[in-house]
Amino acid sequence: MGAGAGSSGGSAFSVRWGESMAGTFETVGVVGLGTMGAGIAEVFARAGLAVTGVEADPAALERGRGHLEGSTGRALARGKLTEAERAEILGRVSFTTSLEDLADADLVIEAIPEVMDYKRALFTDLDRVCKPSAVLATNTSSLSVTAIAATTTRPGRVVGMHFFNPAPVMRLVEVVRTVTTDDGLAGEVADLARRLGKTPVTVGDRAGFVVNRLLLPYLNQAAVLLENGLAGRDDIDAAMRLGAGFPMGPFALLDLIGLDTSYEICEVLFRETRDRRHAPAPILRELVTAGRLGRKSGEGFHRAEEPRSPSPHEKPSAASVAVLGEGAEEFSARLSGAGFKIVDPEGAELVLALSHTPVVERAVRLPHPDRLVGLHLVGDQVAEIASTVLTSPDAARVAHGLLRIIGRTPVPCRDRAEFVVDALLYPYLNDAVRMYESGYASIEDIDTAMKLGCGYPAGPFETLDRLGLETVRDGLRALYAEYREPSFAPAPLLDQLVTAGVRSIRDLAP
Ligand code: 3HC
Repeated sequence: MGAGAGSSGGSAFSVRWGESMAGTFETVGVVGLGTMGAGIAEVFARAGLAVTGVEADPAALERGRGHLEGSTGRALARGKLTEAERAEILGRVSFTTSLEDLADADLVIEAIPEVMDYKRALFTDLDRVCKPSAVLATNTSSLSVTAIAATTTRPGRVVGMHFFNPAPVMRLVEVVRTVTTDDGLAGEVADLARRLGKTPVTVGDRAGFVVNRLLLPYLNQAAVLLENGLAGRDDIDAAMRLGAGFPMGPFALLDLIGLDTSYEICEVLFRETRDRRHAPAPILRELVTAGRLGRKSGEGFHRAEEPRSPSPHEKPSAASVAVLGEGAEEFSARLSGAGFKIVDPEGAELVLALSHTPVVERAVRLPHPDRLVGLHLVGDQVAEIASTVLTSPDAARVAHGLLRIIGRTPVPCRDRAEFVVDALLYPYLNDAVRMYESGYASIEDIDTAMKLGCGYPAGPFETLDRLGLETVRDGLRALYAEYREPSFAPAPLLDQLVTAGVRSIRDLAP
C-alpha cells in the first residue's frame, strides 16, 4: 500500500543528523500565553530550556503568568513537584511584551488565536526580529503552515509544532513540514519534542493534520446529533466515555478545546474538503456568538460550576418484562436474577428489543407498540435505550430505571441508525481508513497520534480490529442509508477488505 508517507523519523541519516542538531535549541520564545501557549512554555521550562513568553499587553502577560503559576501550583499541591522544582521551572521563564526580546532565541513558537492575518503579521515581525538561524514554529491547529512560512524570508526554517490541550499532559506533538521546509529540520524538531518528553509524529501540511482532521468531525457530528435531538448532552458525553472509553465526552472536550477554536478548525476543514460534515454545527456558531466559548469563558456546552443533572432514579414499576432479539435468553436470566418477572411480549408491561439497529418495525408487530424500547448494550457499562415514535414516556422511564438496577448507565436516545456510540464512532474510523488510504499518514502514526493526542485507549485501527471490519462496514452502510451523508459511505478500502475476507487492515500494511 502506498501509505506511510507521513511516518515519523525519516531516513537513518536524517535521524542521526537531527539528533546531533537537537542540542542547539536552548533558548525558546513562546508568543501568546493563553491556555495553550502557557502550557507550551511550561513544557519547555520543565525540560530545562530558557523560555521567553511574549504577550501583546501587560494584562494578557499577567494572565499568562497566572496560567503558569496555576498549573505548576496544581502539580505542587498534588505532590508532583517540590517547591524548589517549581521555583526552578518558573525561574526559567521570563515575561515580556516586546518581540525584540526574542532576538537571541533558537526557536520561537507561536500560539496566538487562529486567525491567518494575525499569524502572517506576526511571522513577518518574527522574521525581522529573530536571528537568521532561528526556527519559527507555529502551534496552529489547522491553518496552512505553508502560507504562514511564505510570509517570511526563511520558509525553510518554518515548521508546525502542534501541541495538545492540556499541553503539559498530552504526550503528542505533531511536527508539520511543508514543501519548503529544509531537509532535516523536521527531524531536528522531532528530536526536540522527544527531549520535552513528547512523542512526535511528523506529517505534511494538510488542514487539521492527523488529530484534528479525525477529532473535529466527530465532535462536530456530536453537536449535530444533539441539535437533531438524538440524545441529550450529558447522555452523549456519558455514552462516549463509558461506551467508547474516551477520557472525555464530546461536549466536555469541546469546552476544553474552546468552541471558538473548534468552530475555526471546522471552518478550515470545510474550506479545504467541502465535506459538509465539516461545516460547523449551527449550535457552535450560536454559542460562540453568545460568548459561551467553553472553559476559557466559564461557560460553553456546560457551565463551569454546574451541578450534574440529576439522573432519574425511579424504581421501575413494571412487574412484567419481555426481552426480544439476539441474546434475549441471557439477558432475561440477568433480569430475572434482579427480581423482574419475565413474560411473553403480548402480555408484558415493558418489551426490551435487544438490537443494534432501529426497532420500530418490531414495535408495530406488537399489540402494544408503545411498550417497546430498543436496547443496545455497549461494552460492559452502557445501555442505549431507543424510543421509537410510538414508545410511551412511561416505558422509556421504566427501562431507564431497570437498566440502572442492573448496573448499566442508560443512554436514552431516538430510534436511529447505530444509535449514539456507533453513530459517532464508525464515521471516525472510516475517516481514519480514508486518511491512511490517501497516503497522508501510516497506520502506526495515526494510532499513536489519536492515543497520545486525545488520550484514547486505542487508536482507530486497533479499534477497527477489535470491532471487526465487517461490523463497521455494515454500520457505515446503515448510517449512509439513513442520513445519506456521502462521507458515511464506507471507504473503498474498508469495503474491499471485507469483500476479500481480510480481517485486519494491518495484514496489508508493508
Ligand atoms: N494543566 C496541567 N496539568 C493538568 C491539566 C492542566 N490543564 N489538567 C489535568 N492535568 C494533569 C493533572 O495534574 C494530573 O496529573 P498527575 O496524574 O501527574 O497528577 C493529570 O493531568 C490527570 O488529571 P486529572 O486526574 O485531574 O483528570 P483526568 O484523569 O480526568 O485527566 C485529562 C484530565 C488529561 C484532560 C483527560 O481527561 C484527557 O486526556 N482528556 C482528553 C483531552 C484531549 O483530547 N486533548 C486534545 C484536544 S485537541 C487539541 O488540543 C488540539 C487543538 O489544536 C485543538
